[in-house]
Amino acid sequence: MKLLMLGCAGILGRALRKELAASHDLRARDLVDYDIRDPAAFAADLDRERPQAVINAAAYTQVDKAESEPELALAINADAPGRLAAACCSRNILFIHLGTDYIFDGRLGRPYREDDPPGPLNLYGQSKLEGELAVRAASPELHLIIRSSWLFGAGGRSFVQTMLDKYRAGERRFRVVNDQRGRPTYAPDLARAIGVGLATGLRGTYHVANPGAVTWYEFAGEIFRAAGVAGEVEIVPVGSEEFKAPARRPRNSVLDTARFEAATGLVLPPHRDALARFLAEAGPQDPGSIGARP
Ligand SMILES: NC(=O)c1ccc[n+]([C@@H]2O[C@H](COP(=O)([O-])OP(=O)(O)OC[C@H]3O[C@@H](n4cnc5c(N)ncnc54)[C@H](OP(=O)(O)O)[C@@H]3O)[C@@H](O)[C@H]2O)c1
Repeated sequence: MKLLMLGCAGILGRALRKELAASHDLRARDLVDYDIRDPAAFAADLDRERPQAVINAAAYTQVDKAESEPELALAINADAPGRLAAACCSRNILFIHLGTDYIFDGRLGRPYREDDPPGPLNLYGQSKLEGELAVRAASPELHLIIRSSWLFGAGGRSFVQTMLDKYRAGERRFRVVNDQRGRPTYAPDLARAIGVGLATGLRGTYHVANPGAVTWYEFAGEIFRAAGVAGEVEIVPVGSEEFKAPARRPRNSVLDTARFEAATGLVLPPHRDALARFLAEAGPQDPGSIGARP
């Protein structure tokens, strides 16, 4: 299938490129090619390439910074996806878009299903929710929205990368939030799920995440154990209010992925397996080497 992907240099974009390039005719774009806020540039690309589907992995993803840059976050995450979806719909092209667990307020006492009411606590979540609504309105029949959570992988900022970078910089005592729970998700696994969703002909909204819900504190322990340095670090659990991040985050943003699993037959491997794969695959200069001794 001929595919056009936006955001190919991000965490998910890189993984999608690897996953889909072998089996599809994939054209990959990022900010260096054009800004997704530029509808004329996107329309010209569509008319030149004539893809059968567009995957939008481009987004404004800085959750804390979004609080002080609301116009920018809303323009990229809310307005642009609606226009991209409309341009696709008018050409009969499927529009695949990424959503986030941060559209939920975290007060539900169970994992979130696709049709649970959203209630974002921060600007990033609000911008992503508005993006979903705009995509559905612009292309009611020809969209696939995949919501995921707590991404990690090569080539971008993630919690895993932050922990390992701090360790490498000499930090040994980590204060980590222990009252937010979610499902860490490995970008290559999410990319595989998107490929399967595409092949299955899914339309509508689905949750996709690696199995295994943890708090950031628990996840930090797993990261250092997987890297073989757990004995060298002290991890101190703290409450969200103690951390004073600019953006509020949901206490429970665990996604229920049963709908996707039933529709495709694909259950992703647990995030602990994914973490081990990430550290092993990252190569000698990357996180896998942090436990190595000279
Ligand atoms: N990261 C997570 O934990 C997480 C969780 C749930 C859902 N998601 C969603 O998953 C998707 C992919 O996330 P990610 O973590 O892979 O993002 P990412 O690493 O931040 O990558 C996003 C890419 O989009 C590019 N981009 C930003 N603004 C653009 C614009 N105006 N025009 C064109 N390109 C632009 C970025 O370029 P620059 O780097 O040059 O700005 C970057 O290459 C997003 O929709 C995100 O909301 C992410």
